[in-house]
Amino acid sequence: MKAVEWLGDALRIIDQTLLPHTLKYIDIRDYPDVAEAIKTLRVRGAPAIGIAAAYGIALGAQRIAAADRSEFLSEYETIAELFSQSRPTAVNLFHAIERMGQVLEKQHTMDSMKSALIDEAKSIHEEEEIATKRLSEYGASLIGENFTILTHCNAGPLATAGYGTALGVIIEAHRQGKRIQVFVDETRPLLQGARLTAWELMKEHIPATLITDSMAGYFLSRGRINCVIVGADRIAANGDTANKIGTYSLAVLAHENAVPFYVAAPLSTVDTKIESGSDIPIEERKPDEVTTIAGHRIAPDGAVAANPAFDVTPHRYIHAIITEKGIIRKPYNFT
Ligand code: MRU
Repeated sequence: MKAVEWLGDALRIIDQTLLPHTLKYIDIRDYPDVAEAIKTLRVRGAPAIGIAAAYGIALGAQRIAAADRSEFLSEYETIAELFSQSRPTAVNLFHAIERMGQVLEKQHTMDSMKSALIDEAKSIHEEEEIATKRLSEYGASLIGENFTILTHCNAGPLATAGYGTALGVIIEAHRQGKRIQVFVDETRPLLQGARLTAWELMKEHIPATLITDSMAGYFLSRGRINCVIVGADRIAANGDTANKIGTYSLAVLAHENAVPFYVAAPLSTVDTKIESGSDIPIEERKPDEVTTIAGHRIAPDGAVAANPAFDVTPHRYIHAIITEKGIIRKPYNFT
């Protein structure tokens, strides 16, 4: 199962909005449809967003019929700009766009620019596969025998188009033969935990218990959780971490109950240009994601709802950040 796959003339993705009941692959040939798939969370999770955007840009560039290099670059900018507007929080997206743009600086013919863009998108994808596998191996050393791990949202193969981050660590610990179990926050409003993490854990035969987000404090306070591991959408230079809404509450609860709280992410999720979490842009999504569940309206007509998609966990609540370069502790040095 591949969350994102390059077919040569199209990008194949799994429509994650339909999981777990329908496993549907979509072959996308037009770049605006890739941007739309990112916006609507058909493809989602910080590393997978970056990879899909890179392929989407490469796909769009193949169709550019420009008279000269400068016309090519101006059309290219329109394509890249559409992707930069798709989702604001996951920095992997912006790192991928930056890398794709840099590739063009070294190429001079239209053909070489087009093929270099495909190569760069493939490299971004391969590097994420390697990084997520490595960080999962490092992270597995933090998991003890008989651990119960709490996780939030979905940070598995679907979210990374690779091995996974938080879930990669869990999957690796299980593959190493450790007896573990996982508590999965359902992750309102879009239920990535209930729909995607529960599904991925079941496929791996890892014992998992689904809880509503508001049950986390109960289980943490009863000593039922040995550690919390989450993914990240953007990590500031000081270690402050943006991740799915609800992560901050979990970190505070973990701290209150003296339970270690770990963030697992590839270095492509670190934004050293940003000093602290207060500068991380937080995506606001439509209120109807809150007033409905799976398309079914639950709130009264006219009810006002807020929908920030991410929150920021201050670095003081984070015990360590698990990356492909190892387990990093304070003071953070990501270079
Ligand atoms: O809105 P989403 O589903 O893209 O949010 C995803 C998350 O918050 C993940 O935890 C994060 O991207 C890490 S993915 C390895």
